[in-house]
Amino acid sequence: MMATMKSDKPAFLAVVAMAVGLLGVAPRELAAREMQAASRNGPTSRGFVEARPTSRGLVGTRPSLAAGGQARAAAAAAQVTSRVTVRVPADDAELLVEGQPVEGTGISREFVTAPLDAGRTVEHRFTARWRPNTYTVLTRNKVVQFRTGDEVTVDLTKNDPNDRAQIRYVPTPADIAQEMIALARVTKDDVVYEPGCGDARIVIAAVKAGARKGVGIDIDPERVAESTANVNAENLEGKIEIRLADALEVDLSEATIVFLYMGNEFNLLIRPILWKQLPVGARVVSHRFTMGDWKPDQTAYVTGSGDELEYELHLWTITEAIKAQIEKASGF
Ligand SMILES: C[S@@+](CC[C@H](N)C(=O)[O-])C[C@H]1O[C@@H](n2cnc3c(N)ncnc32)[C@H](O)[C@@H]1O
Repeated sequence: MMATMKSDKPAFLAVVAMAVGLLGVAPRELAAREMQAASRNGPTSRGFVEARPTSRGLVGTRPSLAAGGQARAAAAAAQVTSRVTVRVPADDAELLVEGQPVEGTGISREFVTAPLDAGRTVEHRFTARWRPNTYTVLTRNKVVQFRTGDEVTVDLTKNDPNDRAQIRYVPTPADIAQEMIALARVTKDDVVYEPGCGDARIVIAAVKAGARKGVGIDIDPERVAESTANVNAENLEGKIEIRLADALEVDLSEATIVFLYMGNEFNLLIRPILWKQLPVGARVVSHRFTMGDWKPDQTAYVTGSGDELEYELHLWTITEAIKAQIEKASGF
């Protein structure tokens, strides 16, 4: 936690304080606790005298009727706000606290929480969502605990392996898909995975080229329906499985070939998963996008037959050296 910047926008802070105030205590949790307290103290007792911390905020216990007014005043006097500065990865990033949007722009956002009892521990989930380019939306989450009254800085600018990426649908032209299959050297023993399969054209072409099995994964239900219909139309439902999922959460260990057309940001997120889960000898072929400092074994430049554009295709192979490095890094 670091000292926060001073805000020169009191009106804005007040509005956000109201918004975040709604988040200080999860309403469902509070309702449940109130019901428990009511059953202990009787249905006629009202007001909170003593606030005690929970992992997410405050929960009150019930006083006698006579003590109610004084207790409320004392509790209010002991309440403090927390001033939170959130650093986000882009000027126009969307910021959410507990899933609720917080208005603002710029790489440093500031808000004040609702008043809560001093010195208690609270926990909030901060989320930044932004577009590094026109076809990618990145999402980063951070759960932060702090003491009420603290000045807090939450840094959402650092890459995190738990970041999530969603990429817009743009299909690979059919002739370029064939070039990707040729670069991967598909054989009858291969199991082909395609994270972000779109309409499944690559995985279908790979199975038609001889692969033993194909798995297409897409986060968009519309694409999954389209892929499934295309697989069925080719009578390949016995050989190709289409899954609705975030491809960064799918086990790839069965794959001997992975086809990608997703973006550099997504590739960097899936790279450690490929290294860890794929067997030695597995190939990864990416349309256009690279893998940071993991240099491809081969890059092919091919001209599209329909549009005369030049397409860049990259091939990587999982080696013993990569697996040894991963094992060393994970402490085996
Ligand atoms: C650029 S298109 C590529 C489609 C196909 N691979 C091709 O080359 O024709 C990206 C596809 O990935 C899907 N997608 C985006 N983010 C995803 C994610 N995190 N997990 C799974 N699918 C995703 C999109 O719905 C879209 O269909």
